[in-house]
Amino acid sequence: MSDTPHKPGEPIEHHPHVVPVSVMVAVIVALMILTVVTVLASKVDMGSMNVPVALAIATVKGTLVCAFFMHLRWDKPFNSIILVTSIGMLVLFLVMTGLDTMEYQSSIDPGYSERAMQAEREVLASKIAGKPVKGDDVLDVLYKHDDPSHASSGHVDERAVGLQAKAKAFFGQLPKVAAAPANNLSSPEKEALGKALFFDGRLSKSGQISCNSCHLLDKWGADGEATSPGHEGKRGNRNSPTVYYAALHESQFWDGRAPSLEAQAKGPILNPVEMAMPSEQAVVDRLKGIAGYGDLFKKAFPAAGDDPITYDNLAKAIASFERTLLPTSPLPAMNSSKGEALSAAQLDGMELFFSTGCTQCHLGAALGGTTFKKLGDRVAYPTQDKGRFEVTKKESDTFFFKVSSLRNVAKTGPYFHDGSVKTLDEAVKLMAKHQLDKDLSAEQVKKISAFLESLTATIDPAVAKAPTLPQ
Ligand code: HEC
Ligand code: HEC
Repeated sequence: MSDTPHKPGEPIEHHPHVVPVSVMVAVIVALMILTVVTVLASKVDMGSMNVPVALAIATVKGTLVCAFFMHLRWDKPFNSIILVTSIGMLVLFLVMTGLDTMEYQSSIDPGYSERAMQAEREVLASKIAGKPVKGDDVLDVLYKHDDPSHASSGHVDERAVGLQAKAKAFFGQLPKVAAAPANNLSSPEKEALGKALFFDGRLSKSGQISCNSCHLLDKWGADGEATSPGHEGKRGNRNSPTVYYAALHESQFWDGRAPSLEAQAKGPILNPVEMAMPSEQAVVDRLKGIAGYGDLFKKAFPAAGDDPITYDNLAKAIASFERTLLPTSPLPAMNSSKGEALSAAQLDGMELFFSTGCTQCHLGAALGGTTFKKLGDRVAYPTQDKGRFEVTKKESDTFFFKVSSLRNVAKTGPYFHDGSVKTLDEAVKLMAKHQLDKDLSAEQVKKISAFLESLTATIDPAVAKAPTLPQ
């Protein structure tokens, strides 16, 4: 055979007929079979597999032909080049078809993108309706309008569908429950205890101030003040953020100084300008003096034995309750929390939110809360508060703050860490300027605000209602 290594000194053999007839026949038969398969395959609609299958068959044929010639003239470097090229082509084809099938398919088959779009819509509609939805019903679910003629007209707002898909990619979906850490798994008893503690003013020195004083659950978890009045009316220098969705944040506080909800809950009770209790022991003593709490703690921490009332367990119970504060609201696209279609202005606003670059920082299910960014990233923002620097003492963290979550943001003003910005419009305008160096027109600002308003969830009155406190 021609691929036997050539030994030095031996004369180079010439064998023009090295390929046995049987091999030639086999190759020709294989090529004919492949041709038949190609013709048959072209009649079967394999959907998105059409193109890769056709290319794979063509490639196998090409390789066979190349191999055949190689056998004839293996000693020629030309043939090694063909071998390498054909293997390379095969890999390239597979990669390209993997990447490009959709585009290619829709370019040769105009119905394809329509079918793909319809499939996408059915998935979205089924998600929204919570059950399988097919055919014309899809449009009714997706494009529910106040005007009933709209739904039945079969009008499809392609832009809205595209934006919905984009929103899904950037924001994902709200989880139904927030993940709890292994050392503080949730239970209904723990959550109920946490809710009682959240509402209990007796956790403060004056007996008057509870978590709910500054994070009013019926006011979307905030208090509407620039800075909050705490013990004896004293105020800190930062705005109260909402506790709704806080469970989705990577860390807590504007500067992220608490790594978890558990760690966070221990802060305000002892903070002299908030609840002002003198020590952890003082809090525990006070709770032990309230007979009803003994029972609640026991049920919430059955493994804790005779002494379940501890400062750690108090923080764990409050954190478990806070993990339930995730009012559901569908994707922030065509459907607001009330299930109505977004207005044209809100869709414009969502488009601007993407195109202006807000999603560089505000992303994830809470549209923020997962990273720290410099306030005044592009154009310096005047503030005395050095933010994250106070925690890490790194120069590079100066003026870095946790990117705010934007769910319910229309209801949680005033804005920014110092509560200095009164309206949502102003906050949007300042963000575009200081974070992205973009000057938005008043109309663009209004539209983005309109989009942000669509992120307002309906608060369940049962969640926000104060429980009967233990005596
Ligand atoms: C006097 C008002 C006040 C009280 C009372 C209060 N907080 Fe806060 N809370 C704030 C302020 C102000 C901040 C922001 C402070 C900072 O970032 O430095 C905050 C931050 C938080 C955060 C972080 C949210 C985020 O997005 O980072 C959570 C969670 C929270 N508080 C829960 C609680 C709980 C639980 C209690 C009761 C144990 C409580 N708060 C009591 C004012 C208050
Ligand atoms: C480079 C990152 C970045 C970009 C881009 C960005 N933001 Fe922000 N955003 C932040 C940070 C950080 C905060 C917290 C500011 C503070 O600490 O006062 C914030 C806060 C906000 C707030 C106030 C929330 C509150 O509860 O006080 C709003 C509203 C807001 N952003 C909207 C937007 C909009 C709209 C855009 C696009 C025009 C945008 N942001 C672009 C990082 C960013």
